[in-house]
Amino acid sequence: MRYPEEVIEEIRSKNDIVDVISGYVRLQKKGASHFGLCPFHNEKSPSFSVSGSKQMYYCFGCGAGGNVFTFVMNYENYTFGEAAKMLADRVGVNLPEMEYSEEMKKKENYRALLLEINKEAAKYFFYQLRAPQGQGGMKYLKDRQLSDETIGKFGLGFSNKTSDDLVKYLQSKGYEDKAIQDAGLASFDERYGMHDKFWNRVMYPIQDINHRVIGFGGRVMGQGEPKYLNSPETQIFDKSRNLYGLNFARTARAGNIILCEGYMDVISMHQAGFTQAVASLGTAFTAGQANLLRRYTENVLLAYDSDGAGTKAALRAIGILKEVGLTGKVISLQPYKDPDEFIKNLGKEAFQERIDQAENSFFFEIRVLEREFDLKDPEQKTKFHKEIAKKLCGFSVEVERENYLEAIAEKYHIGFDNLRKLVNTYALQTGDVGPVSRPKSGVSSKVSPEENAKKVQRLLLTWITDEPALYTKISKYVSSKDFTEELYRQVAERLFTGIEQGNYNPAAIINMFEDEQQQSEVASLFNAKLEAINTSQEKEKAFRDILLAVKKNSMEFYSKNLGADIEALTLVVEAKKALQELEKTHISLD
Ligand code: GTP
Ligand code: MN
Repeated sequence: MRYPEEVIEEIRSKNDIVDVISGYVRLQKKGASHFGLCPFHNEKSPSFSVSGSKQMYYCFGCGAGGNVFTFVMNYENYTFGEAAKMLADRVGVNLPEMEYSEEMKKKENYRALLLEINKEAAKYFFYQLRAPQGQGGMKYLKDRQLSDETIGKFGLGFSNKTSDDLVKYLQSKGYEDKAIQDAGLASFDERYGMHDKFWNRVMYPIQDINHRVIGFGGRVMGQGEPKYLNSPETQIFDKSRNLYGLNFARTARAGNIILCEGYMDVISMHQAGFTQAVASLGTAFTAGQANLLRRYTENVLLAYDSDGAGTKAALRAIGILKEVGLTGKVISLQPYKDPDEFIKNLGKEAFQERIDQAENSFFFEIRVLEREFDLKDPEQKTKFHKEIAKKLCGFSVEVERENYLEAIAEKYHIGFDNLRKLVNTYALQTGDVGPVSRPKSGVSSKVSPEENAKKVQRLLLTWITDEPALYTKISKYVSSKDFTEELYRQVAERLFTGIEQGNYNPAAIINMFEDEQQQSEVASLFNAKLEAINTSQEKEKAFRDILLAVKKNSMEFYSKNLGADIEALTLVVEAKKALQELEKTHISLD
């Protein structure tokens, strides 16, 4: 969907970001910015900043950032179109209808139709459960100790024994066969014609984050195969990007989210007051789901089945969580199989205790690993220690690796120095990480030259965004080409051209990028942390250092590419000249 850029810009400029975000987050003015508790991760002291002058937000804790559109998109989980509509309505801007391409319009309309059909089906199942023919279903749910309130909250329902009554109902409402099939509710076959996908099952509507029904899970009452039947993936049902229960869990604000395997587990936890519980949708946990969780929490607690399969699935999920930067902890459900059984038997207080005692996911991994070895056998024991060392190499941040090394050495009674030696040997063999050489107490966080180069580029961009007038003073020496990181270069180009044309507008730059990750990264460019600087002398020196570092990096970067890139030579020569000039020039910041 495309709206003309002027319309988007009008909506953006009329929706003051401080006003909009104040509707969601309590903000306090501090210096030039407003600060509050970040809605995208859990925190106790505010690191979420909103800048009225830049019309941007940025969280120094989790790195979420963007303009008013990205905020609404991320907070409400809206598409760009939905966010634009909401913000347009908010300030009374009329969104032009016909800007959708014909094809997009058709697709959007069809998606809306499928959502409508699913909603009708959910209402139908809901009604059936409470009708005489639904008695069996109701009894099943009651036997599983679900209260009326819980059944209502999750919109549980029942699909009748008849194999085509839903189809008939939907047809009577005027929906076409093709749409009913595309909604995942029916199939067609030559012999029987149109028939329902679900019959004689209790029905669990699956809702997206905005409480829209996107599919169903249906459970047999008692024994039977398959135990659960789920809607197929459709245009509105993407199993890898939704989570059961997230529509409630997202506002639970418990400081964590509990991830489990089953619908019943989610329902049972919510009933016991743990409204932060979610489950994957009958398929393995995915990176898409991990990313979704990252919007709401940093802490994911796994409550997977305690059997072998559950443990294996938990190990997989831990890896996926790590990849997106989330820490996982594991809730022990022993001696019960899953959260539902645990709560039924031991109650919610006991479950809360298990939450409080949740085990660090690395310790969990090592504990599971331990089971594979007979530690009375010296050879096996050595193997176990080697495997630990191998896993420790997975921590690329030295401080973190050292901390785990220390903890594991103590926990498993391995000599600290011996274990570290093993880690070093292993690391050298595989080149996974550098050798661990840091003395135990000293802190050194070496930053790679690439990271450093990126950092000074971010600082320079932030500085110029804070004081756009500065740009004219340095434009002689610096161009967008000096930003050697592709994304940074694009942003610099747009920012500098804007300033040159008297149109300084950093928040608009964010809309150039469609990917959410990129939008946050762009926001980070305008919000790099400048050191607290007091005197104007210090300030000038800091600015100069940053400028020189950016220039030096750019010269080195293009020198490396000499030969591969014809333009590089010119750039190197120019950069050299600029550097020499800069060394002699005083740049006043007043
Ligand atoms: P109850 O047995 O009713 O307590 O359900 P549960 O949620 O404990 O189920 P279980 O732990 O056996 O399975 C976890 C999840 O896997 C379920 O919620 C379903 O999403 C999915 N699942 C289970 N059985 C099947 C099946 O036979 N087919 C499919 N497609 N998914 C299943
Ligand atoms: Mn269960």
